[in-house]
Amino acid sequence: MMRLVVVVAVATVLLLLVEGGMTARTRRELASPLHGSGIQDPYGSYCQRRGGCCPGRDDQCTVPYLDTICYCDLFCNRTVSDCCPDFWGHCLGIRPPHLGVCERNGHTGATYKKNCNLCTCGPSGQWDCEQNACLIEDDMIQAVNRGNHGWRAGNYSQFWGMTLDEGLRYRLGTKHPSRATMSMNEIQMNMDSNEHPPTYFNAADKWPGKIHEPLDQGNCAASWAFSTAAVASDRISIQSMGHMTPQLSPQNLISCDTRNQGGCAGGRIDGAWWYLRRRGVVTEECYPFSAPQHSPADGARCMMQSRSVGRGKRQATARCPNSHIYHNDIYQSTPPYRLSSHVRKPLQNSPSQAILEVHEDFFIYKSGIYRHTDINVHKASQYRKHGTHSVRITGWGEEKDYNGKTRKYWIAANSWGKNWGEDGYFRIARGENECEIEAFVIGVWGRITMEDMHNHHHHLHHQHHGRLK
Ligand SMILES: *[C@@H]1O[C@H](CO)[C@@H](O)[C@H](O)[C@H]1NC(C)=O
Ligand SMILES: *[C@@H]1O[C@H](CO)[C@@H](O)[C@H](O)[C@H]1NC(C)=O
Repeated sequence: MMRLVVVVAVATVLLLLVEGGMTARTRRELASPLHGSGIQDPYGSYCQRRGGCCPGRDDQCTVPYLDTICYCDLFCNRTVSDCCPDFWGHCLGIRPPHLGVCERNGHTGATYKKNCNLCTCGPSGQWDCEQNACLIEDDMIQAVNRGNHGWRAGNYSQFWGMTLDEGLRYRLGTKHPSRATMSMNEIQMNMDSNEHPPTYFNAADKWPGKIHEPLDQGNCAASWAFSTAAVASDRISIQSMGHMTPQLSPQNLISCDTRNQGGCAGGRIDGAWWYLRRRGVVTEECYPFSAPQHSPADGARCMMQSRSVGRGKRQATARCPNSHIYHNDIYQSTPPYRLSSHVRKPLQNSPSQAILEVHEDFFIYKSGIYRHTDINVHKASQYRKHGTHSVRITGWGEEKDYNGKTRKYWIAANSWGKNWGEDGYFRIARGENECEIEAFVIGVWGRITMEDMHNHHHHLHHQHHGRLK
């Protein structure tokens, strides 16, 4: 009798050990979560094919499932589930819980990206999406194109999926000039009062082959370097009457003009001009742009330090940081000067550089005369933001709008590639300081001597003959 009691007691202890014990639990918890990346074969027949379900816990109540097993006992229905796909429907007669998998357009998944927002599958099968303002919002494109704003909006794949904050952080990159810089005196142009500027002027028509095409800064917030290099390139080409048509290297400024500058995290145009004047930069061919892949600091090391050893064009002290271009001439500018915004700029100063306050609707500009719209006034402030940019102004003009009113505009080159806007350019309302484009306009002269032009001629001839040797 005694002996039997002991046996029963031992059996009870063993049972308790198994119920809460390491072996059983480890096996079942390790198999879980069975459906972590979604229920596979959600409509397959398992518990049904097995012939039924088991009450309570029954570790033998299994069916082969994929390359493992699944359970048809009530114990399987926990937070971390190892139930067979048809357990809920077949054993409980309810809809299966979602287990980190939600449905969308007939497909199931745990996450998906809705434009710039990551959506994750919530505990009860609903999608929880981030609520960021995106750089491209379909309703903004439609609102602009429905209204009479004087310009049309477009969809840009390179901006799709970015947040507005990322757009402002990575696609602009000019620090607002300091108050001291902003109070620079404007140069009053001594224009002959008979000399009326034309109503239409486009530097690209006036100086064919000397105005450089818009570049693409990618996700590098260095418009300070792009706009400065672009204006200097055009000015040198024009002043040298096409003897030299260098496309100056923004990367040279980004990586080497580092004093108080942030490279691909933003910089100042006065600093860029200082560098062009004192040090000079090589061509884009010599020191090509490479957009940062992961962080603004990528590729930030200066590969082309120039030394101030003379005036005008000269050789860099280093070789071009690429294997096939040897032409490492350095180009410089004179000090920049500030242009008065009240008069149309005399042709002699074109192209020039301007600061631009970029608002959220500017990114979707496609064509026409841009003006910041009020399409977002009713939206939360996170949808209405702006940041400072700089661009190259290449001309101006005017046209009549749909109700016969004359609309004046500037023509400007952006640095968002040639598929943005009007072949990389945009037009913007003129005479009303739209987005501050008339608040701070900079002109500059390249530093070119007759000797430079002569030498360059020779240099080119030598180069042509010398290449094959
Ligand atoms: C099984 O799990 C589902 C989802 O978590 C829950 O709604 C249901 O009440 C559970 N059923 C039982 C019998 O525990
Ligand atoms: C813009 O492009 C994206 C991605 O190609 C697309 O999903 C979206 O529907 C487009 N929006 C409009 C208004 O065309």
